[in-house]
Formats: sequence, structure tokens, C-alpha cells
Amino acid sequence: MPNKQRCIDTLNELLKGELMAMEIYAETDDIQGDQQVMGMLDQFARDHKEHAQLLADRIRELGGTPVTGTGMAGAMVGLASKINALRGPAHLLKQLYDGEDKGIHAYEDRIDELDPRSQNLVQGIMSADHDHLKFFKARMESEKDEH
Ligand SMILES: [Fe+2]
Repeated sequence: MPNKQRCIDTLNELLKGELMAMEIYAETDDIQGDQQVMGMLDQFARDHKEHAQLLADRIRELGGTPVTGTGMAGAMVGLASKINALRGPAHLLKQLYDGEDKGIHAYEDRIDELDPRSQNLVQGIMSADHDHLKFFKARMESEKDEH
């Protein structure tokens, strides 16, 4: 079994990503101006909140303390997302798609650092994130068809 502290640290890094996504989706849903996208962002914000809770619970089970904020990196990404949201749904979706993609890669890259139970948990989270990517992609493609 991998070192416990290393698991906790890795889970906390992944938790930061979930918190970042949750905040961004909740803060930009009503700025970008499209009803359908707003519905997606609402739903995905809830998914990321659930993921964050699952990760935080697992960190506590391992004896660690879950992070509660995203720090400077989160603030910068949050600002960029608000600017993109003001520019419209297409700009925001592009950023969020790339963010989800990066998030999935972070899980893939780091899953080996985790204990089997945490790996299980992360598998479930990754499959929900793949669905987010699919929905974003479908919406981005329907946008292209209109032009
Ligand atoms: Fe996601």
C-alpha cells in the first residue's frame, strides 16, 4: 500500500481541482447568458460538489485534513472564467472543456499514487467527468453547426 501521507496529499491536490470546478461553474452559470449552458453548469457544479465531499471524506478516513480553498491558482482561473463568461457561452465552454480535460488527466496521472479504496473512488469521479466532457463537446459542436 502506498504511503498514507502521500495518498492524503494527492487526494488534497485532486480535491483542489474539484473545488475549483465547483466554484467556477457556480459563479459563471448566470453570467454567460445561455439557458441550456446554465442548466449544464448548475448540474455539473452539483456533481463537483459531490466529488469534493467524497474526496474530503476519504481524506478524513485516512487521518488527513481536507483543504477548503483553491488558493491563488484557483483565484486566477476563476477570474479568467468570469471574463470568458462575459464574452459569451462559446468562450466559457472552451475554457471549461479544457479544464475538465486537464482534470481527468490529473486523475489518470496520479491514480497510481493512491491506495485501492481511493483508486475506486477516483474511478467513479473520472467517469462522471467524462460525461461532462461529452456534454460540453456536444454543445460546442451544435454551436459550430449554426455558423
Ligand atoms: Fe467535471
